[in-house]
Amino acid sequence: MPELKSYTRAEVAKHNTEDDLWLIIDGAVYNVSTFAQLHPGGSQILVELGGKDVTEDFYGLHRQEVLVKYAPRIKIGVIEGEVSQVNIPAHGELSTVPYAEPSFWMGFKSPYFNDSHTHFRQSIRAIYDEIKPEAIQAEDQGTYPSKELYAKLGEAGVLATQIGPGPWLKGLKLPGGIEPEKFDYFHELIAHQETARLGTPGFCDGISSGYSIGLPPIFNFGSPALKAKVVPEVLLGKKRICLAITEPYAGSDVARIRATATRTADGKHFILNGVKKWITNGVFCDYFTVAATTEKGMTMFFVERDDNIETKQIKTSYSPSAGTSYITFENVKVPAENILGKEGQGFQVIMYNFNHERWYICGAVTGGTRAIIEDCFKWANQRKVFGKRLIDQPVIRNKLAAMVAQLEAVENWLENITYQMCNMSYAEQSVKLAGPIALLKYQTTRVAHNVSDDACQIFGGRGITKTGMGRAVEAFQRTYKFGAILGGSEEIMADLGIRQAMKQFPANARL
Ligand SMILES: Cc1cc2nc3c(=O)[nH]c(=O)nc-3n(C[C@H](O)[C@H](O)[C@H](O)COP(=O)(O)OP(=O)(O)OC[C@H]3O[C@@H](n4cnc5c(N)ncnc54)[C@H](O)[C@@H]3O)c2cc1C
Ligand code: HEM
Repeated sequence: MPELKSYTRAEVAKHNTEDDLWLIIDGAVYNVSTFAQLHPGGSQILVELGGKDVTEDFYGLHRQEVLVKYAPRIKIGVIEGEVSQVNIPAHGELSTVPYAEPSFWMGFKSPYFNDSHTHFRQSIRAIYDEIKPEAIQAEDQGTYPSKELYAKLGEAGVLATQIGPGPWLKGLKLPGGIEPEKFDYFHELIAHQETARLGTPGFCDGISSGYSIGLPPIFNFGSPALKAKVVPEVLLGKKRICLAITEPYAGSDVARIRATATRTADGKHFILNGVKKWITNGVFCDYFTVAATTEKGMTMFFVERDDNIETKQIKTSYSPSAGTSYITFENVKVPAENILGKEGQGFQVIMYNFNHERWYICGAVTGGTRAIIEDCFKWANQRKVFGKRLIDQPVIRNKLAAMVAQLEAVENWLENITYQMCNMSYAEQSVKLAGPIALLKYQTTRVAHNVSDDACQIFGGRGITKTGMGRAVEAFQRTYKFGAILGGSEEIMADLGIRQAMKQFPANARL
């Protein structure tokens, strides 16, 4: 960055021609003489404002990230004696915009969170703030997260924070220096929320979705040798894994999958054949956790990529960054010791992690929803229509009220359930939490649906425009439905929740 000098407003005012063009934004001076020709909003508009303070115009039309991106090239000084009025958050800084953070970080007391959670949230956010420009670019251009980025996230312990506390964390470095033994489900909840806050849904699934569902069957059901090899490789970002269950023929009704695995005559291998659809990260994965049917029934396998596996990109509503794939397994030879759990008991292996997966989707969806509400507050405060800020319109305040009230309600339930996860054995969780987690997931994605709708209206045309102020809102309303379908759709979740409740219905109860 060029050396920053101090100028008076009168000095800046002299630089007002096409060849010599300066602007003032929030007490800082920008030389846009060269940039003006490249300005996506046109050069003329900048020439007309040459030498002036354009703070209000700028923030009415651009996200702050525009200034952060271009400042190193065009910021040349500050206005003498003036201080900046607009906060540009440092990496990891928490927001002070109303409801932009869960209540504990907005000054409330909490029975659940302590300093280690605050430190963890700040640390993981700092890492994400650093990679945000890369995330936005990848989301936009549909490129896959690079191997270097995976390795970087692995080294920083970010990948390890998304799969729950357990022995697999032993010896790993985690963000904020938190000791693996002290890592709990509240830390993990924060990790999912912070990932979604990036506001780049395809890219976020690109960096976190495959292994967070593909790896648990390995560490829960793999042989000791398999675990020792695969778990560290994946958690350190050296190899990538995905979960391949769904097929064109079977989604919600997993039991109807048609992929087959036939034991070879010597009994040492299985020959895997079949197709899988919508497998997140599959395009760029090294490893696959695959459901197939053997003569003993549904069975889970760990499979390494080879030439008999073809992975093709499926175009979905979010960015190809997620690597969503259509996979063909054609006579793939899989060693018998790669069975996860027992042959014929694949259904139990699949079900084992379902509560966790559904719970973490709730974390991601609440994190993404909250970031949208923050954008709405900021926008409503700075956008002027009919000579007033949007927030001065009762109808807009009403929409914000509905958003906040709904999100705070599900977040409180989510924290309550997270507390149960921290304090119940796996067996107790299976009995007591499957229903509530299903209903929580149902309600969380219903809230996202409502928030998306209102946010889009608050942003107007920008809410349906991929770049600029409404970027995150546009992405959200195109993608919140993923959470409503993946890991069990809303209809299935609602139904499961009530069926589970009816299992406990007292036989002697009467109206
Ligand atoms: C982008 C994306 C990524 C994915 N990633 C993965 C992945 O990594 N690994 C993987 O294995 N799978 C993945 N999936 C698959 C996902 O889990 C399935 O889409 C999901 O299970 C639903 O199955 P389906 O789409 O075949 O819908 P279907 O099962 O065909 O259902 C269609 C609709 O009918 C409703 N419905 C179904 N049964 C009932 C019922 N009994 N009562 C009332 N309504 C019902 C459902 O709610 C749904 O809305 C992904 C899907 C997408 C779109
Ligand atoms: C440092 C100064 C500026 C920089 C770096 C800058 C940069 C940009 C960029 C990157 C965009 C693309 C859209 C986006 O990503 O948000 C844009 C759009 C635009 N800019 Fe600027 N800009 C600057 C100042 C201004 C000023 C002072 C105005 C005056 C009104 C202005 C008016 C516009 C307009 C009208 C658009 C199009 C917005 C739209 O499509 O809705 N810009 N600018």
